[in-house]
Amino acid sequence: MIQDKIDAIKLKIETIADKIDNSKSFTELKMALLGKNGEISALMKNMRDVPPEQRPEVGKIINSLRDWANARLDEIEAGVKKKELSELYKAEKIDVTLPGVRHERGSFHPNTLIRQQLIDIFSGMGFEIFEGPEIENDYYNFTALNTPKDHPARDMQDTFYLTDELLLRTQTSAGQIRVMENKKPPIKILSPGKVYRSDDDATHSPMFSQMEGLVVDKGITLCDLKGMLDVFAKKIFGENVKTRLRPSYFPFTEPSVEVDVSCFECGGKGCRLCKGTGWIEVLGAGMVNRHVLEGCGIDPDVYTGFAFGMGIERIAMLKYGINNMKLLFESDVRFLKQFKD
Ligand code: PHE
Repeated sequence: MIQDKIDAIKLKIETIADKIDNSKSFTELKMALLGKNGEISALMKNMRDVPPEQRPEVGKIINSLRDWANARLDEIEAGVKKKELSELYKAEKIDVTLPGVRHERGSFHPNTLIRQQLIDIFSGMGFEIFEGPEIENDYYNFTALNTPKDHPARDMQDTFYLTDELLLRTQTSAGQIRVMENKKPPIKILSPGKVYRSDDDATHSPMFSQMEGLVVDKGITLCDLKGMLDVFAKKIFGENVKTRLRPSYFPFTEPSVEVDVSCFECGGKGCRLCKGTGWIEVLGAGMVNRHVLEGCGIDPDVYTGFAFGMGIERIAMLKYGINNMKLLFESDVRFLKQFKD
């Protein structure tokens, strides 16, 4: 009787063994035989009904069936695993002879290139970077820079006001005040950032970038400014470039200067780039006005300083021969591609 059942189970295993070809159907078979409610487990449970004197004999038979089933299942499982693995290998096969997917390499925006070069040059001279807020209050952008509300110089820059007191900064010079209020000399900072003016043509954009420099210490003179600018101009425009200072006016510097570099295109003979003059204006600068120092709690009888500010787009346009500022803001890949180094 028991032997019949055992034979039936063995037959069943053998007939379906070949059809088991994945882990799922294998697990189902295993559970159907050896699981809690499986057929072999049921035989064990039925031992209760076997007369006591036959139990050792029947027990042995069932145990050997279980051992046989386990061994057979191991074989089936090994076959299934092998098959599944080879299917996986087939699916994941990589053809190493196929040509690769080419990823286009991007390039830095000319503004970024100039900004990085300037930061390199000036940090090499010991300048630290300070980045002020783009939304400024009137005090930092104008009043503290010796430009009170009724000062005519406020007309020099058309300002985007947000409220009576808040505005989009028109110059990175606002950062000078923030630094001097918080730090006592010696001060040597470089302040790059975006600035905003209501201005829009081939050489002006309502948003552009400036780079401001400020040095305050005992005994700083205009000569220090000139010497530093000479080094800067040579590094950015070329070894043969000379600088010259022309008198100018900014409310927060006294004296104020406009800085020209000798034309690096024609070497000073006169060409289209320098409009026949041999010189190109690159930045504004000057000695920090004593009122500005005083306003920040720095004694102008002990300390002096110089400041300079330049437009990054302007430097980029000059250096790379870009004739329209719009090109710097349009993100046209055909334009940007040319700046791969
Ligand atoms: N802030 C001035 C401008 O935007 C430039 C400048 C900076 C001039 C520092 C002198 C000193 O035109």
